Amino acid sequence: MNNTLRRRHVASISVDGQQSQAITEDIPIVDLGAYLAGSPGALVDVAQKIRKACTEIGFFYIVNHGANPQTVSRAFSAMESFFMLPASEKSKVRMNEHQAGWQAPNVAIHGDSFDKVVKPQATEAFKFGPELDPSDPDHRGKRRFRGHNQWPEALAAQDKQALLHYYAEFDKLAKCLLAPVAMALGQPQDHFDEAFGRSDSVMRCAYYPVVKPEENQYGLPGHTDLSFLTLIPPATAPGLQILTAAGTWIEQPVVEGGILVNTGDTLRTWSNDQFIATPHRVLASTLEERYSAIFFLYPNLDAVISCPPTCYGADLPKKYEDQTFADFYAGYASRNFGYAEKKAAAAAEGAAS
Ligand SMILES: [Fe+2]
Repeated sequence: MNNTLRRRHVASISVDGQQSQAITEDIPIVDLGAYLAGSPGALVDVAQKIRKACTEIGFFYIVNHGANPQTVSRAFSAMESFFMLPASEKSKVRMNEHQAGWQAPNVAIHGDSFDKVVKPQATEAFKFGPELDPSDPDHRGKRRFRGHNQWPEALAAQDKQALLHYYAEFDKLAKCLLAPVAMALGQPQDHFDEAFGRSDSVMRCAYYPVVKPEENQYGLPGHTDLSFLTLIPPATAPGLQILTAAGTWIEQPVVEGGILVNTGDTLRTWSNDQFIATPHRVLASTLEERYSAIFFLYPNLDAVISCPPTCYGADLPKKYEDQTFADFYAGYASRNFGYAEKKAAAAAEGAAS
């Protein structure tokens, strides 16, 4: 293993330090400790902080979240093993129309990008979702976006397990945020439970190589996420930028032990735009490579995105028709991942002829 991965970005800023003023003004810090310990009143407090964050900036840090640093560290090592596999091996699990597998470099153009001139990125990614038992009807079945994970045979079993363990831990953590988010929208704390009873969340591991200096070259161009919520543990190097309401791209501040969370388009739509989804991007670096492993909390494919009565009224009409998450997801995939969709269509055509 090279040293890059172990050398986490350590430009940490003390929460109590002078610079924390800038952090807390732009990106709030939500301490989950008391809430996760079941302290009376803590859930309401977290809900209030999340409401403020999601209506003003769309990003917040969670601290005292209980995620095991070893789980994260092992997953980052496993991710490096994946990306170090030869392209010939990774090509065998190229990303399919289910958003599962390897996204090769120099093909990924984000159709929803806020950056006008976008070149293909040198970034590679690997995405996977819930791992289904072969006895599950959706395992390799016809259900889109579910049960179609692709793992390279050359990837060691313990690396696959490390990534799946990371997925499971972050899935659990992300679901702890559902109750305060529901209350932040004026709903009972169990409002989202059914929609996330069987979530179809996705993990995106990414490798951003060092690139030559070039104009309009991004590691990942400006975009908003499809997700309900996105959980972003520290990457191995800086690069993430967030667009503030004032129209300024700011560097991601680093809070020691904190996990960055942002609101995605699914929650924005569900909340009738009461919560915002904020554009963010990753700069390409000419100096150091970068790894990140991001958890996207998605609801069940059958969940209906329907804004609750507390999010609309006479002065605030409903902006969106109710729709299933599966349809919402399909629209996103066709806008942003035409490459994978065309490939899948061609493969299906070839198989039929
Ligand atoms: Fe994103």
